[in-house]
Amino acid sequence: MKQEKIAVKLGKNSYLVTVGRKLTDNIGAHVKKICSGSAVAVLTNDVVAPLYLERVRASLKQSGFRVITIVLPDGEEQKSMETAKHICEKLIKNNVDRTHFLLALGGGVIGDLTGFAASIYMRGIPFIQVPTTLLAQVDAGIGGKTAVNLSSGKNLIGTFYQPKAVFIDVDVLDSLEKEVFAEGMAEIIKHGVIKDRNYFEFLEKNLTDIFSRDKDLLVRMVAASCRIKAEVVSKDEKEAGLRAILNYGHTIAHAIESLSSYKSILHGQAVSIGMSVAGRIAVYKGLFPEKELNRQNKLLEASGLPVSQSRFSATEIVKALKNDKKIKDGKIRFVLPVKIGEAIISDNVDDALISKAVNAVFP
Ligand code: GLY
Repeated sequence: MKQEKIAVKLGKNSYLVTVGRKLTDNIGAHVKKICSGSAVAVLTNDVVAPLYLERVRASLKQSGFRVITIVLPDGEEQKSMETAKHICEKLIKNNVDRTHFLLALGGGVIGDLTGFAASIYMRGIPFIQVPTTLLAQVDAGIGGKTAVNLSSGKNLIGTFYQPKAVFIDVDVLDSLEKEVFAEGMAEIIKHGVIKDRNYFEFLEKNLTDIFSRDKDLLVRMVAASCRIKAEVVSKDEKEAGLRAILNYGHTIAHAIESLSSYKSILHGQAVSIGMSVAGRIAVYKGLFPEKELNRQNKLLEASGLPVSQSRFSATEIVKALKNDKKIKDGKIRFVLPVKIGEAIISDNVDDALISKAVNAVFP
């Protein structure tokens, strides 16, 4: 069975991302090669647990691990200090020590939370990512950003803490609703636009079969996205510069998500709208040909993703951008494409141009 392995090269914190089929069924044998500890705590949520927890637990047990399971309610609200504390207390109660490890079985919330708990519990224990959404497989599951939210904003507390390994099973994507699968496509198309024109063309050519969830194509696609992300993270683990390129579409996305109180719009949908606005800004700045923007938006729309919205006005969006807690010295940072396959990071977009682009995209 075809498997792809991608190295995230970070010196002594380097690890492999394995992309393939049926990995969850054999997860015990895979982690046995990496973790010598006798116990594993599997963190998941009440949506993923009925689908995959039993087979993961059985496989880990078969490989000789003592298995502790922590099943949290589904939802972004779980990314809190309270839940992180609850997880740590459960680990203590179950005699988990620093020779043991955590395993995140779920989407971005579970991955971020498990990574965060792993990074603080007993000053750090190893963890493994087994992402189960397309979005987490190509983005949050790799790169070591861990976080919980504060009431004043998302991801305001967190660590850079790399997993020991990432196992990506494309078979689990069969259980995703089309809309949830599509939101992963926003990050995937983003990878093509910022870094790889051939990959973008591959997506254009194969979109129908990708949405039919052809497994060979999914392995190729997810591995290609992981390769792009791994390359960026390997060069700039802590986002001192280059890694910010992965935030293409995210400046406007965060504003829309914050105005929506992180409800009623999926992250990938907000990123798709954000790519449309950032692309428009790049066109206005004379960086990005209009034809290329149309090509980007066509692929997003063909994936069932929005490239506009009518809920919030330009004034509301610009105000929300200014309130973003992560803005550096009052400067709003945009990632701007110069062609499909290449992008730059710019702190040099004035408010008038942002408003002009927002007004053009949200008429
Ligand atoms: N999600 C963007 C990053 O990991 O840097």
